[in-house]
Amino acid sequence: MTLKLGVNIDHVATLRRARQAAYPDPLAAAELCLCTGADYIVIHVRNDDRHMTEKDLARLCKVYRKYIHLECNSSEKMQKMALKYKPFSVCIVPELPGEVTTTGGLKFTPKAFDRIRQMTEALQKKGILVSLFINPDAASVRTAAKCGADIVELCTKEYSEAKTQKQQAKLLRELALASLLAKELGLEVHAGHGLDYDNVLPVADLCGMSCMNIGFSIISRAVLAGLPNAVCAMKELL
Ligand code: PXP
Repeated sequence: MTLKLGVNIDHVATLRRARQAAYPDPLAAAELCLCTGADYIVIHVRNDDRHMTEKDLARLCKVYRKYIHLECNSSEKMQKMALKYKPFSVCIVPELPGEVTTTGGLKFTPKAFDRIRQMTEALQKKGILVSLFINPDAASVRTAAKCGADIVELCTKEYSEAKTQKQQAKLLRELALASLLAKELGLEVHAGHGLDYDNVLPVADLCGMSCMNIGFSIISRAVLAGLPNAVCAMKELL
């Protein structure tokens, strides 16, 4: 099985928002990513619309629906939005007010479990694949399977932020075990959060992994890699 890459382009919209401008356009970014090898375009629509908005989802789904992987929380509002635009897949993630970025996997309290299971069913009925963003532990994997999810995305935040090699190796083993268990339970396995050019390969090599979802490191690299072109173009014009 070939490993897939989902490119999260949220931070293209972060830049647009910084100047409240019409560019850079996420649609153009999606096209560039898909033309150069991305298998999916990942966008996270948050309650506060801080980067991607419902309008972005609508535009992206209109052109690239079968490549769009939407991340959102489990509220009725987000469910309604997902059902309206029908992206290829939806990853349900926790969302805390004021957080800089997602802080970890879903917490399955009994109430949250019921809600996530309901939302999973509603999305699947309309042909949308459902992924659950979970911490890499056996209990979370088993609960995700009980929710009826198609996919689990294992949270690599702790792994990415490990301070020592020993700690990172331990966290990688946890990811490996969670991936195996998920595969055994018939789930497709993705991983994401904090992955970059230095730390991605050990995760990508884990048995059962089928997709890496990566945003910040790719967009950060793109900014620097694209600067020479951008400066040359302006200099030529002048
Ligand atoms: N997967 C999920 C569920 C996320 O919430 C995020 C961050 O939006 C990512 C992957 C991508 O993380 P990063 O931007 O650190 O690569």
